[in-house]
Amino acid sequence: MSRRKILTLICISLFIALSSILLRQLNFTSSPPSFSFQTKSKAKMSSEAKIAIIVGSGLAGLSAASTLVAKEIHVTLLERSPKPGGNSIKASSGINGAPTKFQPGPPFSDLFFYSDTITSSGVAFSSSSGEDRRREKLVGKLVNESSGCIDWLVKKGVDLRLVAQLGGHSFPRTHRGAGKTPPGFSIVSTLVKELKTSPLFTIQTGCVVTRILKEGGKVDRVEFVCEDGEKKELRGPVIVATGGFAGDANGLLATYRPDLAGYPSTNDARPGSQPLLTEIGAQLLDMAEVQVHPTAFVDPKDLLSPVKFLAAELLRGEGGLLLSDKGRRFVNEMQTRKVVTDAVTALPLGEETPKQWDVQLVLDEGVYKNASSHMDFYIFKGLMHKCALSELGEEALRTVKQYCLASAGEEEDKLGRTYFGHWELKPDEVSGGSVVYVGRVTPAVHFTMGGVVINEKSEVLDASGEKIEGVWAAGEVAGGVHGGNRLGGSSLLECYVFGRIAGSEVVRYLDL
Ligand code: FAD
Ligand code: SIN
Repeated sequence: MSRRKILTLICISLFIALSSILLRQLNFTSSPPSFSFQTKSKAKMSSEAKIAIIVGSGLAGLSAASTLVAKEIHVTLLERSPKPGGNSIKASSGINGAPTKFQPGPPFSDLFFYSDTITSSGVAFSSSSGEDRRREKLVGKLVNESSGCIDWLVKKGVDLRLVAQLGGHSFPRTHRGAGKTPPGFSIVSTLVKELKTSPLFTIQTGCVVTRILKEGGKVDRVEFVCEDGEKKELRGPVIVATGGFAGDANGLLATYRPDLAGYPSTNDARPGSQPLLTEIGAQLLDMAEVQVHPTAFVDPKDLLSPVKFLAAELLRGEGGLLLSDKGRRFVNEMQTRKVVTDAVTALPLGEETPKQWDVQLVLDEGVYKNASSHMDFYIFKGLMHKCALSELGEEALRTVKQYCLASAGEEEDKLGRTYFGHWELKPDEVSGGSVVYVGRVTPAVHFTMGGVVINEKSEVLDASGEKIEGVWAAGEVAGGVHGGNRLGGSSLLECYVFGRIAGSEVVRYLDL
């Protein structure tokens, strides 16, 4: 190699080394962490580059990131798990929206979404105070943005053409795709894929945010630790989208709901991250409001597992019914989760640990045709099986005959059910040989309605109701949207609505 070439190479290396030092100075107060899953910014960051920090890569964090990136803001997303998606990626029934073109029947103005949400939320909404007005604004945002949410996701390429009616809803509103991909996976993977194409977006997985820090009364950075164990700091306004604490059995759950000790969960074990915000003065509310989902599968191969696969509520919405160990129905399966769970837990408790009840979820061929992608998966996993109705016993056969009379409109349902989804077995056809699909289900801790207090701008409020500058919260980490009981399908919606609002507010903040 000629001397000239060697000199040129040295100059290029020096230039690269100096540029990388400069970039670190701009973005990090110490050296950048090692990434296990990362999209590195290809854009040149100028000294005026605006950077926002998002903690948590579920739908709330991803919705915020999409909003920021669309406004040319650099985003660094920190995620504790090795892979993005949080609990959002597990969502199986779908996302609420109304009115939408996918809802069945002629176009109508679905005014009941707001009142259904309030009714389901129950007592926590009923006191008259300034707090009630704030909650009402949150619910107003949730409902009013829901139609736009479905449009936004569909424009991004997410299939949401099927709509189910879940418990506590007056109309079908919960959207999912027609293919095999569950809605949570479909939404999360679409957003992650799109964000990864942006030079403005960086995701660092395997990195736990350990503190949110303030200077001069404003949040201006986070402290975090990645796999190398080194503490680092990153500067910028912060959106906290760290999800709930339904998987924090020995931590926040034990503190706020000790009575739920021993229940299984639909969430993998994970500590709640609300303390990150209470440490800087955030207020909490509704922390004792924990949703116990009535139907998680008891896997016959792993009977005593404390983490259960969810039996998606859409199975009941599409027509499924619940039978006690005596072969009798005991609740209107289309009631809210709270009502159905209370009815299950009023049945005799089994002797197993975790606490579990003996309830069968029963579906027919009509339900199967409309939920085959879910059911094929559950059958494949050994959580459901196909059998003749006679195998469930004499009493179950009588009960299902009665249910068929109600679904065919020949008799009123004694438990008050009026919506039967796609159940198709007719009263004159039902016999011991009728084909049904069955799985054992039990209640499981599923979702935490409580969290940090936010307003309709996703700003985090302190004990005197003042916003804490420089920090926003969205998704399950926040409380107040769902009161005492959330409607199925409204969690993904909340993530979209308040994640996008948080993103827009940070855009405004950085433009100041
Ligand atoms: P998550 O999606 O849980 O994401 C939070 C992320 O933050 C996680 O990845 C976590 O690892 C990360 N994190 C936490 N703390 C830190 C930290 N300190 N540092 C860095 N990262 C951190 N809702 C519906 O609306 N429809 C459904 O069909 C539906 N089905 C569900 C099925 C199952 C099995 C489960 C468990 C939930 C379901 N839900 C459903 C509820 C819904 O999925 C979640 O409540 C919602 O998606 C929460 O989203 P999020 O963005 O707030 O939090
Ligand atoms: C389910 O599929 O039953 C869960 C839906 C939800 O939690 O909103």
